[in-house]
Amino acid sequence: MKTHVEDTAENHTPHIIVVGGTSGLGLALALHHLQLGWQVSVVGSNEAKIADINNQHPTIVTYACDLTDVIQTQSLLDKLSATSFQRLVYSAGSYTNERVHHLNQADSDKMLAINLQAFAQVFRWASAQSKQQHQSLGVSKSDRPSLICIASIAGTMDYPYASLYAKSKRAMIAAASAYRAALAPYNIQVNCIASGYIDTQALRDLNDGDASHKPFIMSTPTAVDEVMQAIYNDVALAIFPRSMRYITRALNHLPKPLLNWILRSKLDKSS
Ligand SMILES: NC(=O)c1ccc[n+]([C@@H]2O[C@H](COP(=O)([O-])OP(=O)(O)OC[C@H]3O[C@@H](n4cnc5c(N)ncnc54)[C@H](OP(=O)(O)O)[C@@H]3O)[C@@H](O)[C@H]2O)c1
Repeated sequence: MKTHVEDTAENHTPHIIVVGGTSGLGLALALHHLQLGWQVSVVGSNEAKIADINNQHPTIVTYACDLTDVIQTQSLLDKLSATSFQRLVYSAGSYTNERVHHLNQADSDKMLAINLQAFAQVFRWASAQSKQQHQSLGVSKSDRPSLICIASIAGTMDYPYASLYAKSKRAMIAAASAYRAALAPYNIQVNCIASGYIDTQALRDLNDGDASHKPFIMSTPTAVDEVMQAIYNDVALAIFPRSMRYITRALNHLPKPLLNWILRSKLDKSS
């Protein structure tokens, strides 16, 4: 783990930490906050992505950390404890074409570590930090801290045949809901994002460079707008796009065996 630039959070500029902010939706959210005048810190493990951000956006503070490593993650959090933040986004995620390719041990370990275990570690730290800030500084309604996690619409459906990805995102949705209730007395906002397909490089890479065939896929700027609206309106669980929200809501009303059969026949088609 390395710190690119020493943190300068001691000013009055609001500070956002985006864990998983070196590419895709996380980076887009980081850049959006930069445009809004926020101080921005991002965390990721890929040295090339970090070097790119350091070159192109020197005011962004970058942290290299492999979130699958509990000790490295703890030492990152210890370092971040020296700063204060108004918003933390957990956008780190790992996904594969699990349905097409059999889930191997390495993918299984990585997915569980990033989507579930590191998320739990980071949110535990972030909630404690926010509470401490609340007690020492007090927060007004306008600058209430917020913790945001990027789950997936896949986690909104409950059926036995769900993938490890869907199950880990479902756990994230449940955890975010518990944190939201627990942090309400501290005036700390918690929002969970359950998005449909977003046309990021990572999704394109999984689909031979083109993910346009994915149902109701949206652009990254559209997803950023949706996330910002969800934060602004303090939506507990933001499910978008609307078309997918209606479909998953309808599917959740079906008897479980039927839902299982539909999703199994649908998802087992190649990508
Ligand atoms: N794209 C979609 O269609 C879609 C739909 C619904 C939900 N989501 C969710 O949205 C989030 C962002 O997805 P994306 O498409 O923008 O993918 P992405 O570009 O791959 O972003 C994932 C982020 O997680 C970080 N990350 C992954 N493994 C890490 C590790 N071991 N240590 C530290 N950081 C790690 C990556 O940084 P490094 O590469 O630098 O490690 C990157 O910054 C994910 O949680 C995903 O599940 C995506």
